[in-house]
Amino acid sequence: MAGITDKVFRQICKSYGADVLVTEFVSAEGVFRRNQRTREYVDFDEIERPVGVQLFGADANHMAEAAKQVIDWIAPDFIDLNFGCPVNKVVAKNGGAALLRDCPTLSSVAKKVVAAVAPLPVTGKIRIGWDADSINAVRVAGILQECGISALAVHGRTRAQGYSGEANWRIIGEVADAVAIPVIGNGDLFSPADVARRRAETKIAGVMIGRAAMSAPWIFQQIKHYLATNELLPAPQLVERWNIIIEHCRRHSETRGDKEQAIRSMRARLMAYSKSFPEGKTLREKFQHVSTVAEVEAIADYHLTRTGWAQTAPALEIVNP
Ligand SMILES: Cc1cc2nc3c(=O)[nH]c(=O)nc-3n(C[C@H](O)[C@H](O)[C@H](O)COP(=O)(O)O)c2cc1C
Repeated sequence: MAGITDKVFRQICKSYGADVLVTEFVSAEGVFRRNQRTREYVDFDEIERPVGVQLFGADANHMAEAAKQVIDWIAPDFIDLNFGCPVNKVVAKNGGAALLRDCPTLSSVAKKVVAAVAPLPVTGKIRIGWDADSINAVRVAGILQECGISALAVHGRTRAQGYSGEANWRIIGEVADAVAIPVIGNGDLFSPADVARRRAETKIAGVMIGRAAMSAPWIFQQIKHYLATNELLPAPQLVERWNIIIEHCRRHSETRGDKEQAIRSMRARLMAYSKSFPEGKTLREKFQHVSTVAEVEAIADYHLTRTGWAQTAPALEIVNP
């Protein structure tokens, strides 16, 4: 997720059981430039494997060349092609979800990238269609399978929906029935029970969790536990949740030259984390003003004292599970 799944956050998700990670998307042109920003977007640590780099773009030759360069550069485990991004800036250049309306170009991008990076797997991410009148996920999935795409994630919304309305899991199910490649269902999975239900209703091979992880990165562990035992693992205690936040802030600021800017850029992330916290509204007001790790730690101390959790807890260890 652009602006969200940087390597610190991905590693937090991994430590809670996420099986496969994907970088924030980068354009083929960004890869050619290889500036500092692109470098940060695609940077990952060995501990994250299996990890994919997601590319977007509409020029098949550029995409194939960019995919090859990414492999020479950082050797991810797979390349993921974005055919789902709804953002104007991206679709205006025929990238992301725009290719759902242009199947010949979509097919050409997929074919050329697959041929360019073989035998490395290439996966795809689609929405169910451009708008309600042009839902074509089953057709697109068939085309991508023909092109040699190894697995397909389907977000059950149209481009026109953005993030509104509900994900259409009926269409995701139809895609899973129609193709032989693994289909990964995505959209509105906010609890282990949501995942269990969708797995029972469809033939999906896996699930992709987006927004829920932003406020509860431990959801991966809860899902796995629920699927294995039918029991709901409680969310980590407040102390552990604060440890996640502080570790995230610390590591994020370590990766940036301007430490204050680094923490300011974390404010939206802190807001997302606070959704799962008691007294979240008060926290959100405080988070609007933070610019140092020390300020975040002070808020944590205050909050833990107020909520009766003031005790020391071991630092969060981000490890490969
Ligand atoms: C802030 C944000 C950034 C996103 N960036 C990407 C992206 O770069 N690539 C992608 O394939 N999907 C991206 N998505 C879409 C998610 O991967 C996912 O398809 C969508 O949020 C629905 O899943 P969810 O209900 O679990 O959040 C993004 C979503 C959000 C909210």
